[in-house]
Amino acid sequence: MAKTNELSKDVWDKIVDLHKSGMGFKTIAKKLANPEQPAIEHSAQPFVLFGLSTMAEHLSQSELDYPFKLLEYFNGFRVSKVIFSACEQGVFDLLLQSQKPLSAAEVARELGTSEDGMERLLDALVGVEVLEVELTQGTAYYSSTDVANLYLAKNSPKSLYDMVIYQSQTIYPLWNNLGDAVREGKNQNEKTFGLSSEDIFSAIYRSEEEMLKFMGLMNSSWVIDGHDVVNAFDLSRFKSIVDVGGCTGALARELAMAYPASTLTVLDLPKVIQTAQKHFSQSDDTIKFLEGDFFKEDLPAADLYVLARIIHDWKEEKSLPLLRKIHAACNSGGGVLLVEAMLLENRRGPIMAQLFSLSMLVQTEGKEQPPSHYTRLLTAAGFTEVRVCRTGKSYDTILALK
Ligand SMILES: C[S@@+](CC[C@H](N)C(=O)[O-])C[C@H]1O[C@@H](n2cnc3c(N)ncnc32)[C@H](O)[C@@H]1O
Repeated sequence: MAKTNELSKDVWDKIVDLHKSGMGFKTIAKKLANPEQPAIEHSAQPFVLFGLSTMAEHLSQSELDYPFKLLEYFNGFRVSKVIFSACEQGVFDLLLQSQKPLSAAEVARELGTSEDGMERLLDALVGVEVLEVELTQGTAYYSSTDVANLYLAKNSPKSLYDMVIYQSQTIYPLWNNLGDAVREGKNQNEKTFGLSSEDIFSAIYRSEEEMLKFMGLMNSSWVIDGHDVVNAFDLSRFKSIVDVGGCTGALARELAMAYPASTLTVLDLPKVIQTAQKHFSQSDDTIKFLEGDFFKEDLPAADLYVLARIIHDWKEEKSLPLLRKIHAACNSGGGVLLVEAMLLENRRGPIMAQLFSLSMLVQTEGKEQPPSHYTRLLTAAGFTEVRVCRTGKSYDTILALK
């Protein structure tokens, strides 16, 4: 896009006036945009919507004059809560089913809430561009965006509803004790839920309901990240694949789809396997489930072992022996695929991995790491030819060979 000159004071004043009058930046952008201006991608930075690259620069410089970004960060928890509450109340499901825009009074009546509270919630959802609103004869009618229908409605094939519920009901309370976690350097299962901080999966699986919620969270990640992760490397030469700690089998199903000539086995703790088969199995499943404890029992021989979000749960004194055990069980010419949210070596991001690492602090005994850490562990366990693939999304992969 051609770089344009800085905005004139007149345009700035107009933007500020429109914003003060309650207009969102996206609407202002549309109002002011030069129709000849080529469209640019939507960005988290609303000012880029103007199609004026200098404006974003200008604003980052002007953070000293007015801390837009900081204020946005301070309010991050409010935005999370707005989406969490709307999911929990069933707002997105109702709007999807209704097929027509609904007023706050109608939504409140259907969902059994106060009209005033629901109206404010719906307005905030419009503000974060998850819902749309139209005014007809003074009454606001709300409808879902395509994004809300796809990711926030419970029954959409790409639903992230389970991810939202776990974040809201388990991660959020744990993060309430983040300060203590940082001070003490340990998870907050005891303070938050009255559970021992030693056995992390006893805490995570403290009830059948919690186990289902956690498994739902794990499952929903692969709805959006599975395809990139299983295609990061060509894994077709590995004819037998074991997903170690494979939980619901969601990633194994993605692998089975990408590599139909390979056999897929999901190994996990007995109660997890039983729950996976009861609640997450699919009629056309080609994957096999195997009950076992990867710390205590021998692993089946295979060409490839997938460890997705496993190493980051544990201290090195547990993860290194696990990788050694995998190396010993692995068929010659086989390998191991690690799937983790990997930090940059220069410690400058990605922010998602940095935040996940704090989540690991409040809930587990592990942390997120850069590729060099995993490379060192894999090499110490006997693996060679370590290759890293960054997907550019939440999860990256490392493939190493025996
Ligand atoms: C963070 S989850 C990752 C699940 C899955 N790999 C994914 O990425 O969706 C860790 C998994 O390891 C399993 N797990 C924990 N300890 C285990 C053990 N000792 N033996 C087998 N599986 C275990 C858990 O039940 C859980 O499914």
